[in-house]
Order: sequence, then structure tokens, then C-alpha cells
Amino acid sequence: MKVSLTVNGKQYSADVEPRLLLMDFLRDYLGLTGTKNDGGSTSGVCTVLLNGLSVKSSYILAVQADGGEVVTIEGLAENGQLNPLQSAFWEMYAVQSGFSTPGLIMLLTDLLQRNPNPSEREIRHWLDGVLSRDTGYQNVINAVRLTAEKYSSTKKPE
Ligand code: FES
Repeated sequence: MKVSLTVNGKQYSADVEPRLLLMDFLRDYLGLTGTKNDGGSTSGVCTVLLNGLSVKSSYILAVQADGGEVVTIEGLAENGQLNPLQSAFWEMYAVQSGFSTPGLIMLLTDLLQRNPNPSEREIRHWLDGVLSRDTGYQNVINAVRLTAEKYSSTKKPE
């Protein structure tokens, strides 16, 4: 079957098996290996944005995403500059093994799009979406809070 997707702002089309997962399309067809594959667990390390919403790309067939717009971890930086959430992960030592970090960042990008100033409770609730075995989640929470603070300090009064 033919699938056409916009990924990180570029248009791609390919003939694929109907059972091909979106995760495998991103990794194997496009070489976007920042989207991780945990080999069958439900950790959410494969999380990407599809039409603006975070989804586990191993739960979706590529053909189900046909015509959609996907953003992966590779699509967040602009002109070689980390985006504010990526920078905050770096500043707050929230980068864990690296394996779960892309999924966490994509998930939390969705959260920050919906609520630029989430409470710690809300952040913790969202963190259920991606499991990481590395360290605690506190530095990840701190990174989201730092991003929210930076966002609110740059927001112009209305
Ligand atoms: S690869 Fe395990 S939830 Fe997607």
C-alpha cells in the first residue's frame, strides 16, 4: 500500500506492507532512529507527534497515519539549536540513558503545547506515558518546570 506522510516538515511517500508500524517506517524507511524501539514492551519510547498529538508509534500502522504530519525528536531543533525543552533537559541533567529521552521529550512537548505552565502533579500524570528504568523522574519534572518558567518570562504582557 502507498503511504504519504509529512515528517519533520518533509514529504515522504513509499509503498509499504499494510502491517508496517509507523515506528518502523520512521526508523527503517526514513532512518530516523531517534524514535526508539523497545522490542515489544509498552514503555512509550517510540512516542512521536502525529498531527500535533503524542502517540506511541508502535501502536499505529504507517498506513493509518497516511496523509498525516509527524514530528520526531529529530524535528525539534532548529538550525542546530536545541529547542527550549531540549535545552532544559540538558541544563537539569534530565537526559537519562538516552534511550527513553526522545520519547519523554515528545510526550512532554505535547503536554507543553496543551498547557505551557503545567503543575508538578500534571507533569507526573503525563510521565505515566513513558517508562524509564534509569534514574528518578525528578530532573525531568525540573526540566519541564524550567521550560515553563522560561516561557512565562518571555511572554509579553497583553
Ligand atoms: S516500542 Fe514499546 S511502546 Fe512503542
